[in-house]
Amino acid sequence: MGKILLKNGEVVSSKGTLKIDVLIEDGKIVGFPEDDDEVSDAEVVDCMDKLILPGVIDPHVHFRDPGQTYKEDFESGSRAAVSGGVTTVLDMPNNDPPTISRKALDDKRALVSGRSYVNYGFYIGYDGGNLEEVNEVKNVAGVKVFVADSTGEMGVSGEDLEKLFEKGNKLIVAHAEDTKIIEENKKKLLKGKYGPEIHSEIRSPEAAVSAVKYVCELAKKYKHSVHIAHISTEGEVDVIEKYKDSGVTCEVTPHHLHLTEDDYKHWKNFIKVNPPVRSRMEVFSLWKALKMGVIDIIDTDHAPHSLEEKGGEYLDVPAGVPGVEMLLPIFLNTVDSEGITISELVGLVCEKPAEIFGIPNKGRIMEGYDADIVVVDMELEKKVEREKLFSKAGWSPYEDLVLKGWPVLTIVNGEIVFDHGEIVGKPVGKEVEF
Ligand code: DOR
Ligand code: ZN
Repeated sequence: MGKILLKNGEVVSSKGTLKIDVLIEDGKIVGFPEDDDEVSDAEVVDCMDKLILPGVIDPHVHFRDPGQTYKEDFESGSRAAVSGGVTTVLDMPNNDPPTISRKALDDKRALVSGRSYVNYGFYIGYDGGNLEEVNEVKNVAGVKVFVADSTGEMGVSGEDLEKLFEKGNKLIVAHAEDTKIIEENKKKLLKGKYGPEIHSEIRSPEAAVSAVKYVCELAKKYKHSVHIAHISTEGEVDVIEKYKDSGVTCEVTPHHLHLTEDDYKHWKNFIKVNPPVRSRMEVFSLWKALKMGVIDIIDTDHAPHSLEEKGGEYLDVPAGVPGVEMLLPIFLNTVDSEGITISELVGLVCEKPAEIFGIPNKGRIMEGYDADIVVVDMELEKKVEREKLFSKAGWSPYEDLVLKGWPVLTIVNGEIVFDHGEIVGKPVGKEVEF
C-alpha cells in the first residue's frame, strides 16, 4: 500500500475547517506534514479549492444480499456508496434468509467478504424468539427490531419486546410504527378509490408517535439504550427530546427531509416508504430539530427495489427508496441555504454515527485514524442522472435536480476507490471491528 498526500485542501470537522495537508500510509492517516521534503515518495493529490471530509458512515442500508440480489447486492450497493462518498455502511438483517442467528450471520459474513467497495458491519435481527442468538453473536452493529403493537411480519411487541430491553446485551435499533393504528386506518381508508398518497394516511403520524413513546418508555424502564430509526414527525421529536437522558438517540433520512406528500403527484408509488413521507409542516419541524441537535444523525435507510416492482399498484408495491449514493450530494447542495453548515453536516453523517455505533478510528480526520476520506468540490454543479447511478434500484427521487457540491474522490482504507465519476479501485472494504 502506497503513500498518498492530500495537498492544499481544507479539512472539515464538526468544530470547523482547517487548511492542512493530510498524509496517508498503509491505510491510516499518519500525519499532517508541513514540509514536502519529508514525503517526497508519496502520490500527491491536489485538493486546491476542495474540502476534505471524513468518509461518510451510513448506519442504515439494505443491500439485499443474500436473497434478493436482483434488487441490490453488496457489489452494486457498495459501489453506489463509495460513489457518494460513503466509506462505511451498516447493513440491515431483513435478508432472505433473515440474519437472525449466528449461522445466518456467519454465512452472510462469508458471502460478503472480499466483495465490498466500502467498509461494512452487520446487524442481527430480533424476531421475538431468538434472544439467545442475539446475545451470543459477536461484532455486530446492534440488534434491529420492528416494533409493532400486534404481530406483523417481523413485528415484535409485548413481553417479547420487553425481554429484549430487559435481557438483551446489544444496542437496540427500533423501527417504530404502531401496527394496531395502521390496521385500523387501513380498514377505514382502503375503500373505493384512492391513490398512492393514502400511504401517508394509513401509516399516520399517530402510528409513529405511539410506537416511539412505547419504545422510549422501555428504554427508561430497563436503562437500555435504543436508537430510533427514521423519525418522520414533530410528534416523535417531542417525545424523544424528553428521553435523551435515558439513552435514546435517533436518525432522520434524506427523503424525510427532502420529500413531502406533494411529491406523490410525480413519483406515485416510487416514494412509497415506511414510515411514509409527510406534510410540509412536518418536514419543516424535522429541519428545525436537526438544527437544534435533537436529531443525532442523518442516514439513508437505502431500500432498493426493482423498477418493475415500483411501477405496480399501491397494495403490491414494496416500500422503500434508494438513497446511499445521494446522501452527501443532496446535503452538500443544501449546506448554508437550509441553515446547516458543512461542519454540522460532518457531525451528523461522520462523527456522530461512529460514536453511537461504537466504531473505533472512523468518522474523523485524525492521526492514527483509518484513511476513509472523501474529497468534495463545493463548486461542481451536476444534474442527477438516472443512467449514471450505481445502485440496481435504477432511479433516485432526486433525479433531474441540478445539485451544487459533489464528492469527487473517495478513499477507503488508504486506497483511492472512486475518482471523478468512476470506480477506479478494488473492493477493499473490510468488516468493521466494533
Ligand atoms: O420502506 C421501507 N423499506 N421500510 C423498511 O423498514 C424496510 C425497507 C425495506 O427493506 O425495503
Ligand atoms: Zn430500514
